[in-house]
Amino acid sequence: MNIDVLNLNNNELLALGAVFKYLEITQKQKITHFSLPKHFKSSNNMILDSTTILNLGLLPNRENKGKTLFDVLKFTKTPMGSRTLKQWISKPLIDKKSIEKRLEIVEIFRNDPLIMEELKEYLSSIRDIERIISRISLLRATPRDLVALRFSLEVLPYINELLSALGLDTLEEFHDLIGLLHSAITEEPSTQVGTGRVIKKGFNNELDQYKEIFENSSVFLKEIELKEKEKTGISNLKVSRNKIYGFYIEVTKANIDKVPPHYIRKQTLVNSERFITEELRNLEEKYSIAEKKIDELEKRLFNNLILELQKYVKDLKILSSNISKIDILRGFAEASIKNNYSKPDFDDDNFVIINGRHPVVEQFTDSFTPNSIKLDRSKRFVILTGPNMSGKSTYLRQIGIISIMAQIGSYVPAEYAKLPILKIFLPELVLKMMLLVENLLFLWRWRKFLPY
Ligand SMILES: Nc1ncnc2c1ncn2[C@@H]1O[C@H](COP(=O)(O)OP(=O)(O)OP(=O)(O)O)[C@@H](O)[C@H]1O
Ligand SMILES: [Mg+2]
Repeated sequence: MNIDVLNLNNNELLALGAVFKYLEITQKQKITHFSLPKHFKSSNNMILDSTTILNLGLLPNRENKGKTLFDVLKFTKTPMGSRTLKQWISKPLIDKKSIEKRLEIVEIFRNDPLIMEELKEYLSSIRDIERIISRISLLRATPRDLVALRFSLEVLPYINELLSALGLDTLEEFHDLIGLLHSAITEEPSTQVGTGRVIKKGFNNELDQYKEIFENSSVFLKEIELKEKEKTGISNLKVSRNKIYGFYIEVTKANIDKVPPHYIRKQTLVNSERFITEELRNLEEKYSIAEKKIDELEKRLFNNLILELQKYVKDLKILSSNISKIDILRGFAEASIKNNYSKPDFDDDNFVIINGRHPVVEQFTDSFTPNSIKLDRSKRFVILTGPNMSGKSTYLRQIGIISIMAQIGSYVPAEYAKLPILKIFLPELVLKMMLLVENLLFLWRWRKFLPY
């Protein structure tokens, strides 16, 4: 990772250095899986400060859970999709082409509700691959992570079929990786590596050979048991093995006088005694060597597998981000149908919303009254008056939220909306004025006249 390409200034370098130092200390290992940091230029996104995010109720916090823009738009089915949606909401786009590209995809999903629903099903079976990928990078992935990853990857061809039916870009399918995971990891691995129940049969010869010893053990024990029963005449004699004591011959107290002298006493239970013989002792040694070998081998094979998987991390991250995008935009389409949203238009000379609604407030009332706004070059501000509790603040917020929705690529709660692309949103200023003046003044400033 070469940091020069970023052209960071001194302050940025210091901040980045501090971040890495912090990670090094808290993660207690080498940091290998980070992508190069990106320069977030204010010219790429609408500036939304934390007060605005709070005032407009964009993202959930402890107080407003279930009543934010995020909640209204969250039709995502993957964990990374809903995390990415939060990022989108806090960083609306200001590039018209990028916004329109998102809106186009939403429209495509909307026009095919059947495929939209089917896609939802497939997305639902994709696991949190973003987190799994980072655990792979940190060498902390578990066997079950790898199964979850494989399950998720196996869904991709189905998703791609739907995407290409809609004429959309498809996702990389990772057939090699699926093959590797399939051949390496059992269908239901134990959580612990080293038990012999993680690496699949056929993946490694040596491991299979050691495991075979155990697979045949029950037959083997039965054979010994039969032989010993015959020799001693103890009909209920049992030969078994447990983790702590190893192999043993168990004889009930009633038959204790029939025990031959070469049996060595090992353990006394309430109703029985356990013994070992020379033969069993040798067998025990063979078994514990095999056990140790299985533990060693499986751990080594698993670690090597994780190292091998690291080669895929970069592409998997791209996959994860593409899945998030599809997940969010499909969700926007569903939200737009469920809530009756329309596709916004963009035009720098007009600010028109016909019969707009507040997307959150309307969820909690059956009788939301739509409101319009029409601004243009000759009419640049509105004086908004009304009695207490008449909906002034809601109206103001709804205009802000509609702008933000449009600029993240979502349809908007209005019959029609033609909006300029805003680079900055400052309701804080407006809200302060609300405190000063009984009647609220809503001031909309032209993007071009903004000092930023
Ligand atoms: N268009 C609407 N349709 C239905 N209910 C609405 C509408 N706008 C606002 N409300 C509801 O009316 C109540 C008052 O809204 P709001 O706080 O926006 O009024 P306000 O005029 O700003 O009040 P105040 O003068 O006290 O600041 C809220 O409970 C809100 O959910
Ligand atoms: Mg108010």
